Amino acid sequence: MKRMLSGIKPSGELTLGNYLGALKRFVAFQEDYEMFVFIANLHCITVYQEPAQLKTYLRNAVALYLACGLDPQRSTIFLQTDVPEHAQLGFILSCNSYLGELNRMTQYKDKVQQGEGALTVGFYTYPTLMAADILMYDPEYVPVGDDQKQHVELTRDIAERFNNRYSPTFNIPEPLIAKTGARIMSLSEPTKKMSKSDHSDKGVIYMLDEPNIIRKKVRSATTDSLGIIQFDPINQPGISNLIQIIATCKDSSIEDVVEQYKHLQYGAFKDEAANIIIDTLSPIQARYKEIVHSDLIEQTLLEGKEKAHRIARKKLEKVQRKIGLEIKKK
Ligand code: TYM
Repeated sequence: MKRMLSGIKPSGELTLGNYLGALKRFVAFQEDYEMFVFIANLHCITVYQEPAQLKTYLRNAVALYLACGLDPQRSTIFLQTDVPEHAQLGFILSCNSYLGELNRMTQYKDKVQQGEGALTVGFYTYPTLMAADILMYDPEYVPVGDDQKQHVELTRDIAERFNNRYSPTFNIPEPLIAKTGARIMSLSEPTKKMSKSDHSDKGVIYMLDEPNIIRKKVRSATTDSLGIIQFDPINQPGISNLIQIIATCKDSSIEDVVEQYKHLQYGAFKDEAANIIIDTLSPIQARYKEIVHSDLIEQTLLEGKEKAHRIARKKLEKVQRKIGLEIKKK
């Protein structure tokens, strides 16, 4: 069975974007792949988080993983800090990466461009930690949304460099980006990605939003004055985003969604979109409520930690040996 690995950074409540671009796919992939899915809690603190709040986000994220259908019997679900080797390998990989490479990372460049004054060193180097998260487990594929593709490409470059410099050590992973749903946009600013760290949550649907909130947000989604339901992300980013959301929720093609709804006015179309989102999230929310305060969370993470840690310890030992960091006799 081929291996896949991915993670989510719960630096806020998880969004519909996280679900459609990542979680929903992880659940489907666990049928055919050996899945490793982790909570990237170290990545969360690249930006300051209020401790009690962060703790809640982390627990909620594990509960949502399980509520979406990730099965701890089949997939390895773990917390990044339960496997300290990630941070160690992260440092080693940062010594095999160049400033020029990190300077080219879009997320970093965007923050600099926005004039973000208080960027942490951790934020700057986090792609090398992400490379460690991945390379530690030699996955074949890394399913991610569109915004993480560049990081997986950097991971490949770092792995190739390491393999050439020392000897073959890491598998070269491939990013796996969905055809539809890889970039869900903000409802209020549909030229921007829907993101859990948005300053305003008007354009963001959270996985735990109540139906009336979802209806309200979708009804006030930005559209255009053309009045035609068609997929044209350049000229009609708002309507195209709703089409994409529906298509991903229903596992349909963009063409089928357009065909089905093209006769509707925008108001009625938005109501349809809201209903479909509610139908998608409601069963997950019901399961989430049963899970979030149960012991299943601790139990899942304990089992995940054991399995992940066994693999990580071996891998880190191998890496350190190859670099010459050990002083034991052969
Ligand atoms: P994060 O937490 O920002 O996002 C988690 C996953 O959700 C996807 N995603 C989206 N997909 C579609 N539309 C959106 N609007 C949207 N927003 C987010 C992301 O592409 C991602 O797949 N650095 C990573 C976490 C990470 C990781 C890893 C991922 C750390 N180590 C190793 C894979 C492998 C991050 O911040 O994702």
